[in-house]
Amino acid sequence: MHPRVDAIVREAREALAAARTGADLEQVRVRYLGRQGELTRLLRSLGSLPAAERPLVGAAANEAKRELEAAVDARRADTTAEERRRERAGARLDLTLPGRRPAAGSLHPLTRVHDEIVSIFAGLGFSIAEGPEIESDWFNFEALNIPPEHPARDMQDTFYLTESLLLRTHTSPVQIHYMKAERPPIRIIVPGRVYRRDADITHSPMFHQVEGLAVDRNVTMADLKGTLELFAREMFGPRSKIRFRPSFFPFTEPSAEVDVLCFLCGGDGCRVCKQSGWLEILGSGMVHPQVLRNVGYDPEEMTGWAFGMGIERVAMLKYGIDDIRLFFENDVRFLRQFA
Ligand code: FA5
Ligand code: MG
Repeated sequence: MHPRVDAIVREAREALAAARTGADLEQVRVRYLGRQGELTRLLRSLGSLPAAERPLVGAAANEAKRELEAAVDARRADTTAEERRRERAGARLDLTLPGRRPAAGSLHPLTRVHDEIVSIFAGLGFSIAEGPEIESDWFNFEALNIPPEHPARDMQDTFYLTESLLLRTHTSPVQIHYMKAERPPIRIIVPGRVYRRDADITHSPMFHQVEGLAVDRNVTMADLKGTLELFAREMFGPRSKIRFRPSFFPFTEPSAEVDVLCFLCGGDGCRVCKQSGWLEILGSGMVHPQVLRNVGYDPEEMTGWAFGMGIERVAMLKYGIDDIRLFFENDVRFLRQFA
């Protein structure tokens, strides 16, 4: 090698050995191999050397360049590994930092009210039954003493799937399924989804009902009234006010609807109770003799009562919710309040 080239290589190797980080290494590379680096400048100045020296110096400088480039690459692997080690050693776990809280879900208010209704009636000895959401006209209407063309069909605006199949408009058809399959004594509740063409702040096109049915010898209207009064005290508290209002259903006789004092206006009248001071939560009555006959029971021997309660209405009263649509919009700011 040439003494000039030798000196540059020796210096560069020392600098390389001293480099601790990737940045150090880059400085060394620029200083010797960069565009203004010492070796590069030497190669560029070959033209000013005596002709005899040129090939020798040129060859030596080119070889030195390759050698240094290889050395820089080799050191680069070392320094990155070393830097990683230093970083790891320096890192400290701060155990006093607060942890990340996982977002916890909560039960939907309708689920909570559903569960509470079910547990109140389970405590009274009722068992749970279910039925299909797609019904035939016979189960939803005819067996319940609502013949075709009967004006009572207009009480519930129905979603029809075909001529004779529909989305059930209430849970009452499950009374028929159950009474056909079982014999008294019967004490059941039937929670489920029902559907109607109906939409405003207290009516939803899909909503939930809980049907109640008790059939046995000597079952009376007084049993119905006592059961529903007990339910209201459990659900809304001992000071809640309810009233029985005479009403009409083709499948019960006599019939009554139950209202709860409006939570929003306390009875003065507002938009939620449509100025009446009361919010209707259920329809009820003594099972009509014709319905008992339709399922093969003898109305002289067996009597029964039934009710159909709206779960959304109960939840609105219980939590003071003034628009039924809030239950179905799934806004977490609303839902979180029930956690
Ligand atoms: C019925 O559906 C009868 N099957 C109830 C019944 C059962 C009477 C057994 C007698 C014996 P009604 O259409 O009134 O009745 O509805 C019952 C309850 O469902 C109402 O009191 C109300 O709480 C609720 N409800 C009715 N329509 C809607 C709706 N669109 N959105 C939310 N809740 C509703
Ligand atoms: Mg009604």
